[in-house]
Amino acid sequence: MQLSTTFLGFDLKNPLIASASPLTASLESIKKLEDNGIAAVIMHSLFEEEITHEIHQIDHFLHIHSHSHAEATTYLPSEVDFDNLQADHYLEEIRRIKESVALPLIASLNSVSAGGWVTYAKKIEQAGADALELNITYIPTSIDMRGDEVEQRYVDTVASLSQHLTIPLNVKMNAYFSNPANMAKRLVNAGARGITLFDNPTLADVDLELLTALQKANITSSYNLSETLRWCAILYNKISCSLCANTGIHSGEDVLKTIMSGADAAALASVLLIKGEGEIQNILTTMTEWMEKHEYESIEQMKGSISLLHTDNPSAYERNSYMYALQHYRT
Ligand SMILES: Cc1cc2nc3c(=O)[nH]c(=O)nc-3n(C[C@H](O)[C@H](O)[C@H](O)COP(=O)(O)O)c2cc1C
Repeated sequence: MQLSTTFLGFDLKNPLIASASPLTASLESIKKLEDNGIAAVIMHSLFEEEITHEIHQIDHFLHIHSHSHAEATTYLPSEVDFDNLQADHYLEEIRRIKESVALPLIASLNSVSAGGWVTYAKKIEQAGADALELNITYIPTSIDMRGDEVEQRYVDTVASLSQHLTIPLNVKMNAYFSNPANMAKRLVNAGARGITLFDNPTLADVDLELLTALQKANITSSYNLSETLRWCAILYNKISCSLCANTGIHSGEDVLKTIMSGADAAALASVLLIKGEGEIQNILTTMTEWMEKHEYESIEQMKGSISLLHTDNPSAYERNSYMYALQHYRT
């Protein structure tokens, strides 16, 4: 039984990747994930704001001293002055983790725009990350901003970031585009070598005691897998990049569905947060048993087997399935 797969050019022993979450925020928990059989890890994100904050801090530091003394260069901050900065701490974490684990380590940047901060990607590469995932979470609040302007923002960010990298760039996109498949294609043309379908936004809510709006981390269930399956099936073999399924993958069966839809790998966060790292082994066992029973020899053999690749008219197929589901519902 071959559970191995390739993702972003890496040979993974199985398709399970730990998605960015508190479980991928420390060396200790990443080691536990590795011990339990995970094939690759995406670190918790460093946020654009944490990098730009650092840049502003440094600007401020230099500014103060260059105005207060003629010999301003003697006040250039030393290495030590940067030690406590969040972004440098992230680089240090990458180095530490790479020294201690053998699995591919994917660093993660979470951003809203292109800008000077993207040069930081080079430092992430130099620190030893095997790949970088970019999560662009931009919520347009202007009623005047057109959809194509929002899309261009994503493309520009990916294009400017990919220029600074030789390691693969994976883009974790959300599903909120008029045509997510076209968006994925444009992101690949801009330099992405992998696409994760999809990011799972936080939940908007209102605190009725504090009378404030708030956002909560979204812990999913298998119920949330639907869009991931739909768009993996549409995109399979249509763009030249790796596909990682994400959101709502909670069981071995869920992983199998994503692979058959066309994913190369499956990223997990909620299920591991709820059930712990030990669940990785249960998921792999379920997959293996199902594959044996249904006489599949490998993940590669299964990939894309129920995708829309060989469907003559995918739009008509989608429309018919949609009508059938609504018209044949029985209570
Ligand atoms: C508590 C929590 C923290 C997360 N932190 C990050 C993060 O730092 N960066 C990121 O890109 N995604 C983050 N995510 C999103 C997950 O990586 C994942 O994309 C999402 O939860 C969907 O996968 P799931 O259904 O397996 O939970 C976080 C999710 C949760 C629940």
